[in-house]
Amino acid sequence: MDKVVRTKVKDLLGSEPGKEVLAKGWVRTKRGNKQVKFIALNDGSTVNNIQIVANTENFDEELIKKITTGASIAVKGELVASVGSGQAVEIQAKEIEVIGECDPMRYPLQKKDTTLEYLRSVAHMRLRTNTFGAVLRIRHAMAFAIHKFFNDKGFVYLNTPLITESDAEGAGDMFQVTTMDLANVPMHNGKVDFSKDFFGKKTSLTVSGQLEGELGATAVGEIYTFGPTFRAENSNTPRHLAEFWMIEPEMAFYDINDDMALAEEFVKYLVQYALDNCMDDLTFLNNKYDDGLIERLKSVLGIEFRKVTYTEAVSILEEAVANGHKFEYPVHWGTDFQSEHERYLVEQYFRRPVILIDFPKDIKAFYMKQNEDGKTVRGMDVLFPKIGEIIGGSEREASLEKLETRIDELGMSRKNLEWYIDTRRFGTVPHSGFGLGFERLLLFVTGMNNIRDVIPFPRTPKNAEF
Ligand code: 4AD
Ligand code: MG
Repeated sequence: MDKVVRTKVKDLLGSEPGKEVLAKGWVRTKRGNKQVKFIALNDGSTVNNIQIVANTENFDEELIKKITTGASIAVKGELVASVGSGQAVEIQAKEIEVIGECDPMRYPLQKKDTTLEYLRSVAHMRLRTNTFGAVLRIRHAMAFAIHKFFNDKGFVYLNTPLITESDAEGAGDMFQVTTMDLANVPMHNGKVDFSKDFFGKKTSLTVSGQLEGELGATAVGEIYTFGPTFRAENSNTPRHLAEFWMIEPEMAFYDINDDMALAEEFVKYLVQYALDNCMDDLTFLNNKYDDGLIERLKSVLGIEFRKVTYTEAVSILEEAVANGHKFEYPVHWGTDFQSEHERYLVEQYFRRPVILIDFPKDIKAFYMKQNEDGKTVRGMDVLFPKIGEIIGGSEREASLEKLETRIDELGMSRKNLEWYIDTRRFGTVPHSGFGLGFERLLLFVTGMNNIRDVIPFPRTPKNAEF
């Protein structure tokens, strides 16, 4: 048997029997008896394994011993119709090579402990489990679909800086970037002298690419960003990461209604893409963790998202409280909703995704377009079942005067934002945009409950392992 090209397991499983094949991958399990061994081989191309049948009389005993869970092997043999149930084809092994042995005493992925909590402590190895294989493939498919969606619409992918001076969201929870010696910080008049720092000013990791995104949108019309985002909020919740990925489209000549329509079309497209392209992995996750997953994905496709003003939503929540519903956090006009409030609206009241609009201006960022009432701004949050807020966006304040007044009111530095304000000074246009949290989307699409399980290497307070 010379020159057999390696075939991925996914392709083998879809092939007709009756030919010589070469498979490579990692052993998931080995079982059987003295005469015959059944090896489940996986190479990450699919959640499904290919079964290798090895008659022990054809192989050295020592070799068979080395075929343990986690070992990497190459197998040549004939692809034959499988007699067992569960798979159409299997490989009748003729040659087996153990590429890399795996000490069963030390390998951290044993059958006995595979809780998601445990796997987080071995995140460098957990990628080899079926669960994380499925999550990684879905994550990839969603990233690809995001680029495809915007590319097909003629949006330009804009790379915005990760190191920045501006706190776009005004929340102040930024990670500082410095090359200064923290044991010997240069001071001037009792303050840190940032002129001595690498950039000659105080800089941080970005919390959003939006402000630079607006520069792009008011130049080439429609852009999107897709990159890492950093927030030093000390939120130890299943929905917050200190480093997450965000997709931020920004569109000239879009008002808030155009913005909402795009957001709805976008997430429906992504969910449809997952159903069309990731069914093996979705089925695996549905069966293992969340038997409502596929139903839930389908359920958001056929219906229109419900648009509700913040003020209406407050009334609904207050009425719920009056009727005896208990929330952990109080709610009244002017408070920012907690995820329990968002989920009540979505899961219990409207029973469909909700788009909240017209928020009190004091709980939203400086750049949002102000409504006539002087109290609210044209923001929108898309709320999803199980997740709460998945998208935050708005129409932007296009008036130079109103924007400058708002910046002053909030005590922000106009000087540092001159470059941004120039968009309103020179050929200002109505424009809008939003940010989709990539891992929040993945929580929804995979059905996983903890955001640490939909990113390969999570960063959270006190955790930057691997
Ligand atoms: O609502 P946010 O803060 O909006 C912005 O950053 C705007 N600049 C977006 C825009 O209009 N261009 O964040 C947007 C989304 C949230 O809806 C949420 O899905 C996600 O980002 N997000 C987080 N995801 C994981 N961990 C965190 N700590 C997150 N903070 C926000
Ligand atoms: Mg938000």
